[in-house]
Amino acid sequence: MIARAGPVAPGADTVPGSASPGTGAASTTPRHVAIIMDGNGRWAQSRGLPRIAGHRAGAEAVRRALQAAADHGVEVLTIYAFSSENWRRSEEEVSDLTALMRFYLERELKTLEKERVRLKLIGDYQAFGPDLVARLEKAVERTASNTRLTLVIALNYGSRAEIAAAARTLAQRALDGQLQVSEIDEQRIAGEMQTRELPPLDLLIRTSGEVRLSNFLLWQAAYAELLFLDIMWPDFDETVFVDALGQYASRQRRFGGR
Ligand code: FPP
Repeated sequence: MIARAGPVAPGADTVPGSASPGTGAASTTPRHVAIIMDGNGRWAQSRGLPRIAGHRAGAEAVRRALQAAADHGVEVLTIYAFSSENWRRSEEEVSDLTALMRFYLERELKTLEKERVRLKLIGDYQAFGPDLVARLEKAVERTASNTRLTLVIALNYGSRAEIAAAARTLAQRALDGQLQVSEIDEQRIAGEMQTRELPPLDLLIRTSGEVRLSNFLLWQAAYAELLFLDIMWPDFDETVFVDALGQYASRQRRFGGR
């Protein structure tokens, strides 16, 4: 049996979530929800539409998810917008997705400010080129002091790359004599994750009926509740979100304890 992690500094990723650790029913709202927004292509295809139409409808679903998260007291919503593997898609689709993100940022920045949403990015988003990077960084800067909800967009994100980068950083520190190898533990690794300032992940949702994590938040999901929904991402709305919160609340979270 894996023992539940002991007291850990607030914000460290290995800490079990908001439900009192080890006490059973997660009766509280999850503090941190992440979503693998899958099924845009199939949603479009089933309507005889091009894939980009599915992504556009997916961007509208992002608005609904964000609003629902804010209205229902979630602190952090992390969405997988572009994985490090998504570059394998056609040039046309990658360029459509990039244009859509640019458009979304342009249109939604005012909403983020009005709704007091802080934007944060994870992943190697620099790969997107100077124009989108500048817009992303402007949005991050402009919303930095907002406290109602944090929207984390994972862009060119891959969990294994994130873990490998953490290993390299810690190994370098050990080589430089700043750290003993024996001091490299879960907390130190969590401290190198791009999610280090965020509350632990409580609930990870994937739409489209696929049941896998696709290199998303592998470290962070260690104790998260996983929820796989059969709907396609463009059909996601507040009702689905509230239902997901209900399912989370009915789960027993034991974090390895009894
Ligand atoms: C997965 O569906 C979805 C993506 C790879 C992109 C997600 C992007 C959005 C929801 C829109 C833009 C994002 C923001 C932040 C505005 P898929 O294309 O793999 O669907 P399929 O498996 O049915 O083909």
